[in-house]
Amino acid sequence: MSERVKIGLVGIAGFGEWYIRSLLTDPKAPQLDWMAAADPAPERCRQLAQIKEIGVPIYPSLAELLRQQRPELLVLCTPIHLHAEQTAMATQAGVAVLCEKPLAGGLDDALRIIRAQEESRRRVSIGYQWSFSRAIQRLKGDILAGRFGFPKRLKTFVSYPRPYVYFARNSWVGRINTPDGRPVLDSPVNNATAHFLHNMLYLLGPTWNTSLAPAAVQAELYRANDIENYDNAALRCQMPGGTEVLFFTAHSIPERRGPQCHFEFELATITFDPSQRNAQFVAQFSDGGTSVYGSPDDDRTEKIWQCAAAVRSGSESACPAHAALPHTLTVIAAQESMPEMIDLPASARRESKLEPGPMRSIDGLSEAFSRAFEKGVLPAELGDIPWAGAGRVVPVEVPEVLRASQNENPEVV
Ligand SMILES: NC(=O)c1ccc[n+]([C@@H]2O[C@H](COP(=O)([O-])OP(=O)(O)OC[C@H]3O[C@@H](n4cnc5c(N)ncnc54)[C@H](O)[C@@H]3O)[C@@H](O)[C@H]2O)c1
Repeated sequence: MSERVKIGLVGIAGFGEWYIRSLLTDPKAPQLDWMAAADPAPERCRQLAQIKEIGVPIYPSLAELLRQQRPELLVLCTPIHLHAEQTAMATQAGVAVLCEKPLAGGLDDALRIIRAQEESRRRVSIGYQWSFSRAIQRLKGDILAGRFGFPKRLKTFVSYPRPYVYFARNSWVGRINTPDGRPVLDSPVNNATAHFLHNMLYLLGPTWNTSLAPAAVQAELYRANDIENYDNAALRCQMPGGTEVLFFTAHSIPERRGPQCHFEFELATITFDPSQRNAQFVAQFSDGGTSVYGSPDDDRTEKIWQCAAAVRSGSESACPAHAALPHTLTVIAAQESMPEMIDLPASARRESKLEPGPMRSIDGLSEAFSRAFEKGVLPAELGDIPWAGAGRVVPVEVPEVLRASQNENPEVV
């Protein structure tokens, strides 16, 4: 057996290009033997010539790759609705998986991934890079140790503006179901900014590599672009034990902001604000002390090396599939909370300039979300936003497979 872990990459365009850069240029890359790739449409990948030059074979499908090669770890950087079938195929072939976030677009797919992991005894990790970072692991360690006391309210606001070209880049963007009927629930909550909702559920998880599922979710879902699903949202999760989790995410505010995190505990307030230079997670204790945890963006490629190392060591993943399930449950509940999402008013639409192209922005959205974030309420609860409307409170049923992991540390929940 080769010393270096043999790795295959499935999906080489889109975010796959980030993996290619990491596999080619990261100082830790020589630890791995990148020996195969699969993509039915490789021509979209801007590093195609480089891949060919170094002689990594590209197969038209995962099935073909597995027929011809025997990797030890497969990275799945493919559309959300393919995660379940590809994870099952890889694990059945005896291969460990690092699947890009989110876990899935529906509950059946999510549970299929968890079953695939259990039945094959192969590690399946979900690529929420913050969860693999030293900053989040250290912070979580102190939360679990009770340093901050009871978690009262965790809130995050993120604005990732997205141009028209983003909403035209593939057949599943902005869809509830794909054209052939598979659930995908593509939205900022389930895709581009999924990390930051997951991060709050993960920090509240009762052990170092679990997350906590909400007891109930209330959502406000807003649509600015001409898509099937929503592109701006505000969510409130009522967590078991009484913690409140608030999440504000926008694709239609023309300035990038956040993820701005503000976590209120009984004994400390923990903040992260990337608009500050050298932003780090910092805990400010009510007795005047501070603790600094670093930035979770400092070691974004850590997930690759940790998953590869685990193939040899057998060590547990920082973000196994079941740790990503509470996020999926939240996404599904948010959709049920407001099945008829609100179209933001045409009169508020603006065309804003953005690199790499123009985008549709909404006047007043930034102000409404900012104020709601500051006050710790949903936008409709501000009472003066004419377009705002509340969804219903949806109870979350926790699947059997997750129940055992939800209350190992009653101090925290
Ligand atoms: N971790 C992050 O920060 C981050 C950032 C962006 C995207 N993502 C995730 O990465 C995944 C891919 O997103 P994207 O925006 O790159 O999507 P995309 O649709 O732009 O690209 C997907 C790639 O998969 C390929 N593909 C499609 N069907 C395939 C199949 N059957 N077998 C093999 N390859 C296939 C496509 O040809 C394309 O190269 C999603 O899960 C997304 O949420 C993660």
